Amino acid sequence: MNDLTQNNLNYKKYVVDSKLRYFKSHASKIEKTFAEEISSTLGIDSKFITPKFFYDKKGSELFEKICTLPEYYPTRTEIGILKSLRTELPCYLDESFRLVELGSGASVKTRLILDMFTSLQNTTEYFPIDISEILTESSEILLNDYDNLRITGIIDTYEGGLEFLKNYSDKKNLILFLGSSFGNFSPIDGRKLLQTINSTMKPGDLFLIGLDLVKDIRILESAYDDSQGVTAQFNLNVLSRINDELDADFDLNNFSHHSVYNVEHQRIEMYLKSLLRQTVVVSKSNLSMNLEKNELIHTEYSHKYSLDQIRELLEGAGFVINHIWLDEKKYFSLTLVSKV
Ligand code: TRP
Repeated sequence: MNDLTQNNLNYKKYVVDSKLRYFKSHASKIEKTFAEEISSTLGIDSKFITPKFFYDKKGSELFEKICTLPEYYPTRTEIGILKSLRTELPCYLDESFRLVELGSGASVKTRLILDMFTSLQNTTEYFPIDISEILTESSEILLNDYDNLRITGIIDTYEGGLEFLKNYSDKKNLILFLGSSFGNFSPIDGRKLLQTINSTMKPGDLFLIGLDLVKDIRILESAYDDSQGVTAQFNLNVLSRINDELDADFDLNNFSHHSVYNVEHQRIEMYLKSLLRQTVVVSKSNLSMNLEKNELIHTEYSHKYSLDQIRELLEGAGFVINHIWLDEKKYFSLTLVSKV
């Protein structure tokens, strides 16, 4: 990094070179939110931790590992669908599109879309939005492989990043939201996020969203509780993060990963189970909490959808559906929508 300038009150602008710059939401802003959120979500009877906090550096690395596990079908399946879009998706695109990605992580799947963009365009602009700093590493790797790419990374929440993007309204955007991250929101928050995305979009913009489909419970449950225990490690890592960043004293040996499929709500529910009666202090959140033996701290939902629910969800948020693509086994879906 050779240039550091103050952009505005909310972001620091880092210009790496002519091809890469990124904007980082002020750490203090994020940290304050973290301590405050933990205080309000662990300081109540039905305790929970918001899933966006999973993705510190270690958490992001563990999640990349989950994506390669034999039991975790979503990533592999979605990649298969993306590959099959090679001929169809470019029909919706032209020279004037810019690529925006929510939760870009390691940008592995993005490459399949970037291949389409870079073969259509002289210069491709990519705006990854991610809460994790993994974004800066993955951007540098992408730039090594794509000559005509320009990257503006935004290290912030989805909402923050989308708001930031409104200042760049000159070109059309294809917004990507891959993985099954959307399924991690509660139905209410998910709807709100879709409305936020819709309100950031201009006529002509496109939005491509990955949604996991309802299927055999055994397949679902093993995808979220793998035999190598990586998912368990990933879930428990959020407690290490709270220890490190918020001065807490969680003993990871006193918790276990617990996940179950809730048929009625069509979702995997993930918890951290307290293995004994214990007291944990989170200093920066001014919190001392008592946990009973077997008490559950909720960490994640992963909702699964039917095709009818997908249509209802997206149309309900004001989108028009252009196409829904599925894999052969009907495990996963990618839906392309535009704004009404
Ligand atoms: N977005 C991923 C999903 O719902 C997140 C995820 C996969 C996850 N495995 C997990 C989150 C285990 C917490 C614990 O599939």
